[in-house]
Amino acid sequence: MTTTLTTLLRVFDETNPHVPLLETGDGSRIAQELASIGVRFERWAADAQLAPGADQAAVIEAYRSSIERLQHECGYRSVDVIRLERGTPGTEPLRKKFLDEHRHGEDEVRFFVEGRGAFYLHVGSRVYQTICVRGDLISVPAGTTHWFDMGPDPEFTAIRLFVNPDGWVANFTGNPIAQAFPKLDA
Ligand SMILES: [Fe+2]
Repeated sequence: MTTTLTTLLRVFDETNPHVPLLETGDGSRIAQELASIGVRFERWAADAQLAPGADQAAVIEAYRSSIERLQHECGYRSVDVIRLERGTPGTEPLRKKFLDEHRHGEDEVRFFVEGRGAFYLHVGSRVYQTICVRGDLISVPAGTTHWFDMGPDPEFTAIRLFVNPDGWVANFTGNPIAQAFPKLDA
C-alpha cells in the first residue's frame, strides 16, 4: 500500500456541511479539538513493513508492543485487524454498513497502520470529520454518535481493540445527517 496522505480534521456546524468552521492538519490541534468532545486521538509510530498478503496474525505481531500498551492502559481484552487493499471486490456493502449515523455500547478503537478512513463524530451541534491515516489512533467513546467512510475503493489496515467484541454492534439513530456531509474522497 502506498497511500501517503496526512491526517485532516474538519469541524462543521451540523446545519452547514459545505463550509467547515475549522480545517486543520496539525496533529496536536486535532488531538486538542477531539479531546474537547471526549475523543482520544494520538499519532503513533506505524512504520512496520507489512507484506502484501500479511494476515491478521502478522499485523498483530508487527504492532505487538503498541497493542499491549493499549490493552494494559484501557483494559481492552480482544484485538483484530481489518485490512482492505485497493481493488478488493465487493466492499460496497461493508462501506454502507457504517455509513449512517450510529452508536455502540463499546468504545470504537482504531489504530491505522496503513491507508486511511474518515470518522465523523456528531457531538452537540457539530460534526467533526476526522480523516485518519497510517499512525493515527482514535478512540470513540461508547455512546458517541458517529459514522465512518472507508471510501468507494477502500485501502486501509486498522487494528481494532475491544473490551467485549460481542457488544460492538451498530445502533442506528435514524438521523439521515450523514448523507449531507462530504464523503472521504469529496
Ligand atoms: Fe461505529
